[in-house]
Amino acid sequence: MKTIFEPFRIKSVEPIRMTSRDERRQLIQDSHYNLFGLKSDDVMIDLLTDSGTGAMSAAQWAAVMLGDESYAGSPSYYRFRDAVQNLMPLKHIIPTHQGRAAEAILFSIFGGPGKNIPNNTHFDTTRGNIEASGAMGHDLVIAEGKDTSSLHPFKGNMDIAKLEAYLENHGDSVPCVMLTITNNAGGGQPVSLENIRAVSALAKAHGKPFIIDGCRFAENAWFIKQREPGQQDRSIHDIVNDCFACADGMTMSAKKDAFGNIGGWLALNDDDLAETARACLIRTEGFPTYGGLAGRDLEALAQGLTEIIDEDYLRYRIQTNSYILDRLDALGIPVVKPAGGHAVFVDARKWLSHIDPLCYPGHAVAVALYELGGIRSCEIGTVMFGRQPDGTEVPAAMDLVRLAIPRRTYTQSHADYMIEVFEELHAMKDELRGFKIDWEPSLMRHFTCKFSRL
Ligand code: F0G
Repeated sequence: MKTIFEPFRIKSVEPIRMTSRDERRQLIQDSHYNLFGLKSDDVMIDLLTDSGTGAMSAAQWAAVMLGDESYAGSPSYYRFRDAVQNLMPLKHIIPTHQGRAAEAILFSIFGGPGKNIPNNTHFDTTRGNIEASGAMGHDLVIAEGKDTSSLHPFKGNMDIAKLEAYLENHGDSVPCVMLTITNNAGGGQPVSLENIRAVSALAKAHGKPFIIDGCRFAENAWFIKQREPGQQDRSIHDIVNDCFACADGMTMSAKKDAFGNIGGWLALNDDDLAETARACLIRTEGFPTYGGLAGRDLEALAQGLTEIIDEDYLRYRIQTNSYILDRLDALGIPVVKPAGGHAVFVDARKWLSHIDPLCYPGHAVAVALYELGGIRSCEIGTVMFGRQPDGTEVPAAMDLVRLAIPRRTYTQSHADYMIEVFEELHAMKDELRGFKIDWEPSLMRHFTCKFSRL
């Protein structure tokens, strides 16, 4: 069937304010061409992130009313903990206000000067927390994971040979081995169960704790079910259980695959590590039965975790991405293939080959999508990664534009509209011009820097 069947009906709606092209040209100019500077009600389709932007279900909103806001021992915590442990057989479940808070606690334990931490690809906040502790993060994804046209089914896999050499070379300086499922920074590409088990075995053989960044665990499990030999007849629940059964801990942003608008957790099996983590939690987030969250948030997450593994939902979710990707591909727009779990990535460097990487082709696409269609996307390229610690600038490895799809939020009509905007943009792509940065802060410049059009 060509139609994506959205397995929900809409009970409550948020109006989208319609804007004209002239209005948007003015608004983005007033924001110094930085999409983070826009007010979100001036955006018609917001694909900046899939994080915290999903729609909660009626059952989640009902659960919100059950939230018990006691400082200690809230039953909401125990419902949350049980919902996590039903999916992930880990011993200590420590709630945090979002994923990066879990990372900050983890690296207050595992980080520090001289430490080295491998991952398939560290997400920005993970790397930020590692580096802030004085440690170094390294990305060891397989070569296919960096090839935008490779059709490898598990482009998020860790390169096992590289990890083995890494563990031998870095020895005692490695406090833990991480793996991010799906691999967000690499295009939302999945990691196979076989690879998860191989990473776990290698970590174990070297005596290192194995920590999964599980933000998009359900999307990853769906890909395993679809693509990995022998997994087709298994439930998402059982596949998720297997993925985490071989981990010693996890970090989680519940703003992704827990259908939360806020939330996260750190999970650890080791009693001593958990005690140290909870001491840090009390200092920075809150008491261990609420972490950085209200009781009602914990209830919403507990319910969300039961809904995220629904196969009708996951089919719709992943189909939406491939629907968009296939149509952009058919128009001749270079995209990262195959479609990832949470986003579609456009290869702007390839598409706008007339714009030098140091004039930010990805940013040119993102601004044009807003001006033409009111669509907000995110450049993942030289604006984000090009600035070096010594103040110089080099092109990033790729200039991509991420169209992150919020969960249960937009319909197939919205997807068709996006595709129409891309079609129009494709016809005028040679007229697009690059940008220059007029002002930038010293760190994470993409959030606040000011651009002008060349
Ligand atoms: N790990 C991964 C793989 C992520 O994608 C994110 C967030 C985090 C950790 C941090 O979680 O936001 O709850 O603190 N990714 C969002 C994104 C922001 O847009 O990709 P957080």
